[in-house]
Amino acid sequence: MPLPRGGAYNAGTMATDTVEQLHAEALRGLAEAADARALDAWRIEILGRKGRLTSVLRGLAELSIDERRSVGAAANALKAELEAAFDERAEELRRASFAATLASDRIDVTLPARPHRRGGLHPVTQMTERILDAFRSMGFSVVEGPEVELDYYNFEALRIPADHPARDMWDTLWVDETVDGRRPLLLRTHTSPAQIRTMEQQQPPIRVAVPGKAYRFEATDTTHEWQMTQIEVLAVDEGLSMAHLKGTLLELMRRLFGRERQVRLQCSYFPFVEPGAEVAVDCFVCSGAGCHTCHQTGWIEMMGAGMVHPEIIESMGFDSARYTGFAAGMGVERLAMQAFGVDDIRYFYQNDLRLLQQF
Ligand code: DAH
Repeated sequence: MPLPRGGAYNAGTMATDTVEQLHAEALRGLAEAADARALDAWRIEILGRKGRLTSVLRGLAELSIDERRSVGAAANALKAELEAAFDERAEELRRASFAATLASDRIDVTLPARPHRRGGLHPVTQMTERILDAFRSMGFSVVEGPEVELDYYNFEALRIPADHPARDMWDTLWVDETVDGRRPLLLRTHTSPAQIRTMEQQQPPIRVAVPGKAYRFEATDTTHEWQMTQIEVLAVDEGLSMAHLKGTLLELMRRLFGRERQVRLQCSYFPFVEPGAEVAVDCFVCSGAGCHTCHQTGWIEMMGAGMVHPEIIESMGFDSARYTGFAAGMGVERLAMQAFGVDDIRYFYQNDLRLLQQF
């Protein structure tokens, strides 16, 4: 509301009225200000530099000395009162909003804590890492190869031609049997194709460990799954012999299953190695005496292995008179079954939390 500025008005009377009017209106407005924003708007309107109270105080200059004395005293008293009222209201609103926050953010500190559900690495992943760590510490580097593989790497280059009876050892899941009419694609049946891929890319000395999934078109039972994790190992260098193969695998088994382990190589056939062997470890449950775990034999079959066939060494462009190599391929689930006492390989892929939470 505009304030009187003297002239035709009875400035003194009007100003005094205004002081009273302002008093009532301002206090009502203050009481109605329900939050910090409204309060601030009130402060600007009433107490601000261009506010209504300031105008009243400015208007004093136009009054007679007597009027100025009485109206001035009233206006100054109003100023003090409104400032105090403002502070009080501000404090009141602060307390109210704090109380509201306390009420809405209320935490019952006596409630029991919520349990933390911590994830863990899958037992097969844990076993894979343990095996790879052992190989890394023996100077092997870890490389990987594709799961969808060419027939060439999975079979041909490993001395298993299309009509070879050894193909029966790996029941294959074909992705496409007639790509280009001659380059069939499959899900790799083992990680051995990584041997060829590695020898294509590296020169001796070669030392690699290759973890990965492999797939077989197989009926499942307690020790067979259609998907599995394998780790392939390949070393090519001058002067490597079966002794190096055996020493490397013995060291692996001792790291995984204890210093007192023994490793046994038994003649076996795989087209890509000569000689080929099946590797067994003395049973870490009965130490060879014979028990349920080792089917009373005292030994547990762990993997296939052998000396890389000289024809493969040659076909990779290395001189087989100078370079020899050893290779091994192991099923990680089989090793995990032994290490963790899991008696059915299918448990690993059922996502049953009762099993997984034990690791
Ligand atoms: N790839 C073979 C399999 O899955 C296992 C194997 C045998 C790997 C002998 C090798 C090896 O490297 O030398 O049945």
